[in-house]
Amino acid sequence: MTRQAQRWVLLALLYFVVAVALGVGMAASHDFRLRPIHVHLNLLGWVSLALTGWVYTQFPRAAANRAATLHFWLYNLALPVMMAGLAALLLGTPAAEPVVAVSSVLVFASVVLFAVNVIRHRLPAGAAAA
Ligand code: HEM
Repeated sequence: MTRQAQRWVLLALLYFVVAVALGVGMAASHDFRLRPIHVHLNLLGWVSLALTGWVYTQFPRAAANRAATLHFWLYNLALPVMMAGLAALLLGTPAAEPVVAVSSVLVFASVVLFAVNVIRHRLPAGAAAA
């Protein structure tokens, strides 16, 4: 596994622990206001980060360039901000909406960057382009 892939998987594990802890907390307290946070931590966090790590393992040329580094930082800085903003919104702070808007667009941009990078560098290392 490349270093790039490894850091995505390690962060995925962190999201998994936090997302499941929130699920247990919601179940225990019968307070489901943060259900969307639980869902997004699980799906944009645990599942997407683990899958991203797997994709970078399969496409090592895409994992080894500057776009991959930019993708890592953009996604992993914007996602916690988006989650914090969304949590504030759900708990009754409408002023958090612009934070959610900007951070979610940044997450989206990083996902597009990831997709384009993998598609452009999809050949295995050393293979000649057709
Ligand atoms: C111990 C582990 C988990 C616990 C205790 C837990 C707990 C919960 C609770 C209490 C809710 C809210 C239910 C409601 O509002 O009626 C929920 C919703 C949800 N959870 Fe989890 N969860 C766990 C793991 C996961 C995982 C691993 C995923 C996905 C990878 C996930 C995805 C979802 C989704 C998509 C919903 C929304 C369902 C809906 O609104 O219809 N959960 N979970």
